[in-house]
Amino acid sequence: MNHLLSIEDLDRAAIERIVTRAARFAEVSDREIKKVPALRGRMVLNLFYEASTRTRSSFELAAKRLSADVVNFAAGGSSVEKGESLKDTVLTLSAHKPDAIVLRTPWVGAAELVSRWSGAAIVNAGDGKHEHPTQALLDVYTLRERLGGIDEASIWIVGDVAHSRVARSNIIAFQRMGARVTVAGPPTLIPREIEALGCEVRYDLAELGSADIVYALRMQHERMNETWVPSLREYASRYQINARRLGPRQVLMHPGPVNRGVELSGEVVDSPQTLITEQVQAGVVVRMAVLYELLSGSGMLAGPGTRPQGASPGSAQGTSPGPAGARAPKSLPDGSGIAGAVIGGGRSV
Ligand code: CP
Repeated sequence: MNHLLSIEDLDRAAIERIVTRAARFAEVSDREIKKVPALRGRMVLNLFYEASTRTRSSFELAAKRLSADVVNFAAGGSSVEKGESLKDTVLTLSAHKPDAIVLRTPWVGAAELVSRWSGAAIVNAGDGKHEHPTQALLDVYTLRERLGGIDEASIWIVGDVAHSRVARSNIIAFQRMGARVTVAGPPTLIPREIEALGCEVRYDLAELGSADIVYALRMQHERMNETWVPSLREYASRYQINARRLGPRQVLMHPGPVNRGVELSGEVVDSPQTLITEQVQAGVVVRMAVLYELLSGSGMLAGPGTRPQGASPGSAQGTSPGPAGARAPKSLPDGSGIAGAVIGGGRSV
C-alpha cells in the first residue's frame, strides 16, 4: 500500500507525472457530465479534525468525479467530542473498509501515525505546521499551466513561514522542479536553520522585485500562542504584498484563506496577477490524480522514501493489523486524543 505523507517522498519525475495526469483530468472538469468511472467501487474517507474549505471540498469533488464513494467526517459533531481518540476513531471508521483516508489534523506527524493504524492509503491533507503535500502539487500544477514550468524561476515565499505547513512542502517541491526559493518575513516568523532546506532568507522585502513569483502566506493566528509581531498593522506596513510592492510582471499566489488587509491588500487579491482562483481549480484535478495513482492499482506513488506499511493491498482493508502485528487496544493510555509524545517528536520547521 502506498501513501502520500510528505512531498519529500516524491522526486521530480513523480511530481511531473502527477501534474501531467492532473492536466488530463482537467478535461473531465470541462465536460457536461463531470465524471469518469476510474474509481467506481472504491471508497474515500475524508477525515478532518481542522477547519478547511478548499482542501475538503476539492478532495470530495475529486473522489466523486472519479466515481468513488465518499464519506465525510468532521471531528466537530462526532464522538470525538465525547473523548474518542484519533486512533479509536480511525479504527472505528476503518470498519467501513475505506480504500483511502484523507486526513487533516493540527498534529505534526498524525498522517504517518494513521498509516500504521489503517490498511487504507493515507493522504496527508495537512498535519499541523509540518506538511501539506497536495497543496505543493497543486501549486506546481498552477505554475506549470501559467508559465510552462519553473526551472530557474525565482520564487519568494513571504510571511509566516514558522507556522506554515504550506511553506515547508512548497520550498521542497518548488526546488525539486528547478526553482530558486527565497523565504522572507519578520525574524520571529522565519524558523532558524530554514536554509538547511536549500532556500535563501531575507528579513525585508527590499529585493522582492527580483522575484518572478510572489507566494504570500497567511498569518496563522490559530497556531500562535504568544506575540510574534508587535501588531498586525506594523506587520502589514513592512510585509504586506500590495500594489506598491507587486511588480507588473510578477504573479501572485496564496494558499488561502486570505486575511485581506494583512498579508495581502484587497487590490492585489482582486488583480489579474493573482492565481488564487486557479490554485483552487487546480486542487480538484491534482487531487484526482493523487487518488487515481493511489487507488487505481498502478501503485505509482512509490517515489523515494514512500513508506509501505506492511499490509498487502489485498489484505489492507481497515482492520488489518499494523506493522506491530496486533490491532491496538480499544482504550489507549492517551485516550484524550492522540499519542502526544509521538506527535511531539514529529518534524516541523
Ligand atoms: N489551502 C488550504 O489548505 O485551504 P483550506 O484550509 O481551506 O483547506
